[in-house]
Amino acid sequence: DLTTTIGNYTFANPLMNASGVNCFDKDELDAMVASASGSMVTKSATVKPRPGNPEPRYADLTLGSINSMGLPNLGIDYYLDYVATYQAAHPADAIFMSIVGTTFDDNIAVAHRIQDSDFAGLTEINLSCPNVPGEPQTAYDPAQTVKILDALFSFFTKPLGVKLPPFFDLAQFDQMAAILNRYPLAFINTMNSIGNGLMIDAETDTALIKPKGGFGGIGGAYAKPIALANVRAFRQRLNSNIRIIGTGGVHTGRDVYELILCGADMVQVGTALHQEGPQIFARLLTELQAEMTRKGYTNLPEFRGALKTL
Ligand code: DHB
Repeated sequence: DLTTTIGNYTFANPLMNASGVNCFDKDELDAMVASASGSMVTKSATVKPRPGNPEPRYADLTLGSINSMGLPNLGIDYYLDYVATYQAAHPADAIFMSIVGTTFDDNIAVAHRIQDSDFAGLTEINLSCPNVPGEPQTAYDPAQTVKILDALFSFFTKPLGVKLPPFFDLAQFDQMAAILNRYPLAFINTMNSIGNGLMIDAETDTALIKPKGGFGGIGGAYAKPIALANVRAFRQRLNSNIRIIGTGGVHTGRDVYELILCGADMVQVGTALHQEGPQIFARLLTELQAEMTRKGYTNLPEFRGALKTL
């Protein structure tokens, strides 16, 4: 039994894509629907379509990936259309929409579009995009985070969660968790890519990607220990009714298991999904089930948050 819940929603298993991967358009989203994942999320949508940053803007690395996509997306109307069609065909299967604004006003405007729609799933507001030139990562600014959450919860009544950037200091976890605990959040998603890394081609001494002088978000195996710590630190600090989506460095069923051990209710896959394609979900489920069997567990609550420390 791999079922998991967030709020009133139950999912057959905890796996889904991380926003940005396999969710740009109908073809990619349909492939997610056809996969073994328990749910899915759409690409972070802005009010208007965006082309994103100049290419090359993504590179696979030996241990992960670097990207500076710059929020290429087809605009909120496209994704609202898609989820409306999806809901009609799959009334029992909830999915997530990711939304983002490059300004305060745009964050509020795009959330209003969801509130005013028939979308009946969960909304993830992205407070952590590292890749829009000139725009800081919102959740690294506590005052701006409070301002956005205050504004959102003044009108938004659907299940809402926040996508957070990685934090690195225990004082940051204390501060951010205290802020988040003041709001009726359905979930947090920790974490986004590790912002503003730099990778260099060894032959040409050139940055691998073009935007922002080569700076980009790092994902994949590089991210796993940081993701485990972020899930663990927030699970120890957040109200128990705020669920946690764990994201970062999942390549195997053991990686999924470890994020759940740290407290994750659902687990997203980004870099490895990009590299392996949607058939990765069937493999991860088989490997997760094998790990659970090896440890004598038959369901997720038996080991969720059960990390042992010395
Ligand atoms: C992009 C990257 C992110 O890490 C994110 O949270 C949102 C958008 C991007 O560059 O498109």
